[in-house]
Amino acid sequence: MCGIVGYIGKQKASHILLNGLKRMEYRGYDSAGWAMIENEKLNLLKNIGKVAHLDRLTPHDMINATVGIAHTRWATHGFPNHLNAHPHMDNSENIAVVHNGIIENYTALKTKLQKDGYYFNSDTDTEVLAVFIGAIYEKVQDLEKAVRIALSEIDGTFGIAVLSSYEPEKIICARHGSPMVLGIGDNEYIVASDAAAIIQHTNQVVYLNDKEMAIITRDGFVTKTIDNENTEPIIEEINFDLAQIEKGGFDHFMLKEIHEQPETVFNSFRGRLLADVGNVKLGGLNNMMDKLRKTKRIIITACGTSWHAGLVGEYMIEQMAQIPVEVEYASEFRYRNPIIGPDDVVFAISQSGETLDTLAAIKEARQKGATVIGIVNVVGSTIARETEAGVYIHAGPEIGVASTKAFTSQITVLSLIALLLGRMRNLSQPEGQAIAEAIMELPDKIRQVLATEKEIKAIAEKYYENKNFLYLGRGFNYPLALEGALKLKEISYIHAEGYPAAEMKHGPIALIDENMPVVFIATKDTIYDKVFSNIEEVKARKGKIIAIATEGDERIKKVADHVIYVPEVMPMLNPILSAVPLQLLAYHIALKLECDVDQPRNLAKSVTVE
Ligand code: F6R
Repeated sequence: MCGIVGYIGKQKASHILLNGLKRMEYRGYDSAGWAMIENEKLNLLKNIGKVAHLDRLTPHDMINATVGIAHTRWATHGFPNHLNAHPHMDNSENIAVVHNGIIENYTALKTKLQKDGYYFNSDTDTEVLAVFIGAIYEKVQDLEKAVRIALSEIDGTFGIAVLSSYEPEKIICARHGSPMVLGIGDNEYIVASDAAAIIQHTNQVVYLNDKEMAIITRDGFVTKTIDNENTEPIIEEINFDLAQIEKGGFDHFMLKEIHEQPETVFNSFRGRLLADVGNVKLGGLNNMMDKLRKTKRIIITACGTSWHAGLVGEYMIEQMAQIPVEVEYASEFRYRNPIIGPDDVVFAISQSGETLDTLAAIKEARQKGATVIGIVNVVGSTIARETEAGVYIHAGPEIGVASTKAFTSQITVLSLIALLLGRMRNLSQPEGQAIAEAIMELPDKIRQVLATEKEIKAIAEKYYENKNFLYLGRGFNYPLALEGALKLKEISYIHAEGYPAAEMKHGPIALIDENMPVVFIATKDTIYDKVFSNIEEVKARKGKIIAIATEGDERIKKVADHVIYVPEVMPMLNPILSAVPLQLLAYHIALKLECDVDQPRNLAKSVTVE
């Protein structure tokens, strides 16, 4: 949510900042802006809308500055307009600040500053911080000190970069709850909220810790706590390459990421399955084995698509390991005084590893003594660092705002965890072996599903003008119905609801008429016949049926208007296969509607606010 980039070195800053903003645009695209220092003067430019608008305003080639900071915004405080765009300046217009996060006590600070005669042009909390730093600078005449004092007095979360014409050869950045990475190049430094903005220039980075700041000049950098204690920076290598964050010939990141799934699912289980003994080896859980063996209850917490993956995980763990599992929206869990204690194990699922609600739920669980394990994609992210142990899903960078490959990788990892927990209990070796073999067959089966894209596109072309969709499934396919509806809503803005198929008759059936497309995930499992009855109920009311069914199911053709076949697979693994046609259906509908597939309105990739 929001992206920050800053540069100091020997190249034109504008070029690097613009590139960095484009790479981070998936984090927020309401407005963009930058501040650079040229001839010791602070120049600031910002504009509503996407990063490309900014470049059109002043072509970046015309700016010769070699130091600057920039921001792409997802609005929290104040409308997404020009005034509220970052950077924000202090009243002297000599200090510019870009900020991710939320300053909770900004109203009190603003009132106090107004009483002292300072004024504000925007509705943002960030401008309050900029003016506050400026007010302190007047007294201390030292930028680093002014930033440090200001940060020590604010409540909330921040990732910031500060630039000032008072001390023009310097960028100061700091983090608390919002990521900040410092890239170390050859006599140049790039600071960013996301390694994607850095990888083109260097793969050597320092991830700042909470309450840590970096003071960066052309000659080097120092890191210290915001209480002014020096810290020892740890230089790490970024774990992905440039090609992974480019479109690679696809029209959209989302489509590329859908098509990557044979490889990303493979990467999620690669080296982890012990097929000969029907078991799993997860290095990140080595020191948790005793706890996992003894636990009597598991809680899974997450948001959005990751929460849907968690629901599949619940069904898997209960079936394979017979441990009671509860799946909680992180945003609810954190505020409702949950009953949880030292005997419980919590799995927190997050693609970005930065979702604020999930992070808060983790803190709540740890506070109550529970063991918290992360299931995360982004290596080195805050959730990966805040959990006691974890399993990376290894899906690689996900740039499309709608989550696709992370979802199937999350479920793959959950299937490994369920197998591990099962084998610690009553699951036999032959059963374990069968599951391990089924997991290993997934990449090829996903390839077969991807080959049906043309048929899915044709269905999209027929139904894209419908105003409502229903998605129905039962058992392992119920969370998929929720996920299919979410994908359609977020990228095509069509109203869609996911429901357990049997619940339809308790209300939603009233919606069905000849204008209602109903997507059934009706693959072969123990409740297939029941789902079939639900399909007939829809058919009787003239609903249009799009069925996702198991290859060879001829019966379903008689009732469904359209059938998309997926290969036969163990029912608990079906969500990994059936997610793919749902993603493609949403994609092709959104495309027909000319929606911005990769950057849908109002959304941002990682939600670092409440
Ligand atoms: C939907 C989507 C969101 C995220 C949710 C959690 O396509 O991307 O619903 O799943 O915001 O994000 P993470 O997994 O990063 O914690």
